[in-house]
Amino acid sequence: MRAVTVVPLKANTVDLTELPEPPLEDGPVLVKTREIGVCGTDIEIIAGDYGWAPTGSDRLALGHESLGEVLEAPEGSGFVPGDFVVGIVRRPDPEPCLNCAIGQWDMCRNGNYTEWGIKQHHGYARERYRITPDFLVKVAPALGDLGVLLEPTTVVAKAWDHIERIGARAKWEPHIVLVTGAGPIGLLAALLGVQKDMEVHVLDQVTTGLKPDLVAALGATYHHGDIASTGCIPDIVLECTGVGQLVFDAMDAMAPNAVLCLTGVSSKGRSLGIDAGELNRHMVLENDVVFGSVNANRSHYEAGAQALAQADAAWLGRLISRRVPLQSWKEAYQHQPEDVKVVLEFAR
Ligand code: BGC
Repeated sequence: MRAVTVVPLKANTVDLTELPEPPLEDGPVLVKTREIGVCGTDIEIIAGDYGWAPTGSDRLALGHESLGEVLEAPEGSGFVPGDFVVGIVRRPDPEPCLNCAIGQWDMCRNGNYTEWGIKQHHGYARERYRITPDFLVKVAPALGDLGVLLEPTTVVAKAWDHIERIGARAKWEPHIVLVTGAGPIGLLAALLGVQKDMEVHVLDQVTTGLKPDLVAALGATYHHGDIASTGCIPDIVLECTGVGQLVFDAMDAMAPNAVLCLTGVSSKGRSLGIDAGELNRHMVLENDVVFGSVNANRSHYEAGAQALAQADAAWLGRLISRRVPLQSWKEAYQHQPEDVKVVLEFAR
């Protein structure tokens, strides 16, 4: 069967190659891949900066954002042929650590987790895969192919879950949210903020095109420029760019008791001049919290599925700015200026 694969840590090895049918030991549920979402992590893997092949293989099949259709499922598995499903990305470490032992693999402590399409297991960018039912999530039939947005939504569902847990350390009635970056993660973070009845502001660099429109259509406010020019004093910041300057500017701009969640993975090697003493003083005197958030556990897949089911399907549809058929697969990984979320179609 066909799969989009790379030799990890070797730039420009991405290709549409043949892989054997999925092995039975991967699980009793057989799924046909319909769509794969492309994200920054895929681009990093293709550039040779990230990714690990499965043991015994040179190549890694990409694809951690997926939507599939069940072809075969054993009775009692909770799935039947025709179900639209999304596979979970991370698997707990085999030890398992304290967190993996209780299903919180997104908080793995020893780094020995695996991730489909990223770390030591083939991803979903192949025509078929096998999986165990406990790592498969059903998508509401009404959502159809928009279900491919579930995985990025789980990332922000986790971020919001942890923001709320941290906020609960004291009485807290957050109202103003600043999201930096209007890519898919930023826009989905803003969607969840609006669903929580917050006043949401989104900051990005562009001044025209789809992003400002998508923010306005949510009922949120779009800004461009720097954080100071937004005039916001946010209770919550979701930093979705990984740009160092924005991270520090956000720390400086927050309201007392604010929570800043970092979701963007930055490139290494960029240094900034900052007044660390001033920053420390400000954070201590205002009880501010800055924390990082990655991946998602099953509870976040459930929260994400609920958020998507409540969202306006037309808005979600606009988030997918480009669909690329498998025969033109290369184009899915080539950035175009108007891109928000690009999807590679395997079978529809
Ligand atoms: C994925 C996460 C994953 C992270 C780090 C992200 O793109 O959405 O599931 O944990 O990359 O590998």
